[in-house]
Amino acid sequence: MLEVEGIHTYYEHSHVLHGVSLTVAPGEGVALLGRNGAGKTTLIRSIVGFTPPRAGTVRFEGTVIAGWPPHRIVRRLREEGLAILLVEQNYALAMAVADRVSVMSKGQIVYEGTPADLDAREEVKRRYLGVA
Ligand SMILES: Nc1ncnc2c1ncn2[C@@H]1O[C@H](COP(=O)(O)OP(=O)(O)OP(=O)(O)O)[C@@H](O)[C@H]1O
Ligand SMILES: [Mg+2]
Repeated sequence: MLEVEGIHTYYEHSHVLHGVSLTVAPGEGVALLGRNGAGKTTLIRSIVGFTPPRAGTVRFEGTVIAGWPPHRIVRRLREEGLAILLVEQNYALAMAVADRVSVMSKGQIVYEGTPADLDAREEVKRRYLGVA
């Protein structure tokens, strides 16, 4: 449904996302996790068009939407029933509602799996999330 492929996003000269790829299938809930400044908000901003990626692409139902104005992207996502839910600072709730989780660090996705997979990975949680 949503396919983010190798995107690079900048704020002016500051290179923040370094080749991020992510997919969301119909009916699926995907949570983005990571420490402050990891790039979660920048990834959402890149998808909805507030800070369009300078390289890589974002496709929705096979159509490239990267470069569209935000109002057009958001309308399109909503028409097809894709919602972006912001759950800040609540690891337990994000883990409870997600089918898959992606952990970000320094503008890259460093771990992907189910919440149960992540729950068993003590060193990933300690290193990238500060929880154990
Ligand atoms: N408007 C901006 N201009 C310049 N740099 C920015 C801007 N917004 C964010 N950044 C930088 O981009 C990087 C990623 O920030 P981002 O806000 O995407 O992280 P985050 O994972 O959402 O963090 P948080 O958990 O604090 O919300 C950080 O280094 C941040 O300082
Ligand atoms: Mg944020």
